[in-house]
Amino acid sequence: MELILDSANIEQIKELNELLTVTGVTTNPTIITKSGKEPEVVIKELIDLLDEDQLLFIQAVRTDYEGIMEEAKAISKLRKKNMYVKIPVTHEGLKAIKECKKLGIHTLATAIYTADQAFLAAMNGAEYLAPYVNRMDNYGDGVGNVKDLIEMLRVNHMDSKVVAASFKNTHQVHELIKAGIQAVTVPCDVVFNMIDHPGTKIAVGEFCMNWQKAYHRQDLFE
Ligand code: E4P
Repeated sequence: MELILDSANIEQIKELNELLTVTGVTTNPTIITKSGKEPEVVIKELIDLLDEDQLLFIQAVRTDYEGIMEEAKAISKLRKKNMYVKIPVTHEGLKAIKECKKLGIHTLATAIYTADQAFLAAMNGAEYLAPYVNRMDNYGDGVGNVKDLIEMLRVNHMDSKVVAASFKNTHQVHELIKAGIQAVTVPCDVVFNMIDHPGTKIAVGEFCMNWQKAYHRQDLFE
């Protein structure tokens, strides 16, 4: 499974990239605004931070077809490889995804609220499909919808990857990993919640305390 970080927080991305096996980073306009930096600055920091084998996803901000295509072409040139353009599955967006496929521009179809939207984007050539799990939960069963999508792609032999997005808690991520999801893009705070457990901290504290008490030192070997 691919673990992608849904963030533009450079410090947190750096930390998690050292701790875990991270496939890449997704952003969207809102995530970039939250960085408090100019978009050009954040994008450059992300490019510098990632290895060339890691994927970077930047979303088109314009919503008209011509604008999306203009931005898609510019985004695709930001890196030599592994550069993906995120495009929402609006009418204009679906048209742009289709055109990007013809031009060899890698795309991720985003702002997906139904399995049908994702399936149609896959037919247009989107390489990644990002269903918004938590937002779907407001209308029904987000995890269930993503499971449906995985099945729809499987029975139709489609090779687009599902990268489940819009997670608000570890349970949503857990359920989709169990379902065999190909990729998840997860905010850094949710990833930290997946790593950290108070029990682990207590256990490590006990090991150190017992060792210190018995041997009056902190290391394994003197
Ligand atoms: C990622 O690709 C999406 O843009 C992101 O997960 C949306 O998350 P949100 O629902 O927290 O805005």
